[in-house]
Amino acid sequence: MGTTSSALVMLFALFFIERLEFICSSTNSNVSCIASEQEALMKIKGNLTDEANRLSSWVGKDCCTWKGVGCSSKTGHVVKLDLHNPIFGGNKLGGQVSPSLLDLNHLHYLDLSWNDIQISNSLGSLKSLRYLDLSWSTFDATIPHNLGNLSRLQYLNLSNSGLSSPIPVTLGRLTSLTVLDLSSNFFNDSMLYSLCNLSSLVHIDLSFNSLGGAIPYCLGNLASLSILKLNANYYLQGPIPSEMGNMTQLTELDLSLNAFEGEIPNSMRNLCNLRVLDLSNNKFTGKLSTSVGSPFGCIHNSLEDLSLSSNELSGGLPNHLGEFKNLERLIIGWNSFYGSYIQLEKGPSEEAALRSCYGFS
Ligand SMILES: *[C@@H]1O[C@H](CO)[C@@H](O)[C@H](O)[C@H]1NC(C)=O
Ligand SMILES: *[C@@H]1O[C@H](CO)[C@@H](O)[C@H](O)[C@H]1NC(C)=O
Ligand SMILES: *[C@@H]1O[C@H](CO)[C@@H](O)[C@H](O)[C@H]1NC(C)=O
Ligand SMILES: *[C@@H]1O[C@H](CO)[C@@H](O)[C@H](O)[C@H]1NC(C)=O
Ligand SMILES: *[C@@H]1O[C@H](CO)[C@@H](O)[C@H](O)[C@H]1NC(C)=O
Ligand SMILES: *[C@@H]1O[C@H](CO)[C@@H](O)[C@H](O)[C@H]1NC(C)=O
Ligand SMILES: *[C@@H]1O[C@H](CO)[C@@H](O)[C@H](O)[C@H]1NC(C)=O
Repeated sequence: MGTTSSALVMLFALFFIERLEFICSSTNSNVSCIASEQEALMKIKGNLTDEANRLSSWVGKDCCTWKGVGCSSKTGHVVKLDLHNPIFGGNKLGGQVSPSLLDLNHLHYLDLSWNDIQISNSLGSLKSLRYLDLSWSTFDATIPHNLGNLSRLQYLNLSNSGLSSPIPVTLGRLTSLTVLDLSSNFFNDSMLYSLCNLSSLVHIDLSFNSLGGAIPYCLGNLASLSILKLNANYYLQGPIPSEMGNMTQLTELDLSLNAFEGEIPNSMRNLCNLRVLDLSNNKFTGKLSTSVGSPFGCIHNSLEDLSLSSNELSGGLPNHLGEFKNLERLIIGWNSFYGSYIQLEKGPSEEAALRSCYGFS
């Protein structure tokens, strides 16, 4: 599962590199830095503390050769600034990012992750941005509300950045967005509704916040969505809307550690690509055999990892559990199921596929 998402991110990164016409050194080109942009970069450097000397290459006139800086081979403008810290823990850049950052107004790609940098609140004026990664930074603030003006943004990662509410509703205008990661912050909004029109989204991670409210039925419009992680928000509630059965590209759905309730809708069996389903630690009720466990629907072929533990599910375990052909992990303890053990031990093929199974004590 970790490999699935990192593969996805990798694919996405490759996609980016192909789309952007930047160069990272001038060895194979004759572009050189635009003077005003070189000046802006010098101001940025001047305001940063750099104990590990990571910006030591930032000298001389041709800023296109500086480490972390990329220029367009067509226009010569700085289009990429990648100052992410490659080393966990040490080597951080510190201080304040100079407002001169906004003079780099052709930037497509900005990665300042894993540093101790404070960032100005007006990033929304960098209108060419496609890729913005400020994860594991120290903001201690809110998301700038003008971020909704970045209409070309495709990748937004603000995970683990000390951010708190409100999440600006203008986020719902980022119609090019493919990846949205706001995980591990202090958001407490009910904001899912604002994502309903973002039909390019492939990956949403809002886990480890304190989001509230219900999943709006319109979220089922996100037909390209592959990964949806809403786990560990504790306050998300209400039922799974049956429209989520329309998200046929879903490969991973994690709703664990919330207050969701109601029956698991029948439409979930239509999720033909779903490999990981984690509904554990909620208040789901009803009989499993009438929903996911039904013998019809292609979820039987796709599911590899199913966690339903710590809910209020009842009834017998579905007869057809053995028909989950690729199931490798099943966790169903802390429910009110009965009479189940036998079916899972039925055939040698199932035993082989089902490598671990908890919850039958
Ligand atoms: C780069 O060099 C080529 C030919 O050597 C020339 O046609 C082109 O105008 C140059 N570009 C810049 C930005 O100087
Ligand atoms: C950034 O550097 C400029 C001088 O280049 C200085 O005037 C300004 O106070 C510095 N800002 C911060 C936040 O250090
Ligand atoms: C955002 O864009 C709108 C329309 O293009 C513009 O009116 C507004 O001033 C912009 N806001 C900011 C903060 O840049
Ligand atoms: C966001 O950034 C974090 C930390 O840098 C990384 O672990 C995570 O994979 C990123 N999320 C996405 C969806 O790329
Ligand atoms: C949500 O978070 C904000 C910012 O931390 C806080 O001011 C507000 O009281 C919180 N709202 C709720 C309902 O907890
Ligand atoms: C989605 O788009 C429609 C049509 O443009 C608009 O009426 C609606 O308010 C938008 N919804 C959200 C949540 O932004
Ligand atoms: C989405 O799902 C609902 C309920 O499951 C269904 O009525 C509706 O027709 C579906 N919409 C689309 C566009 O497939």
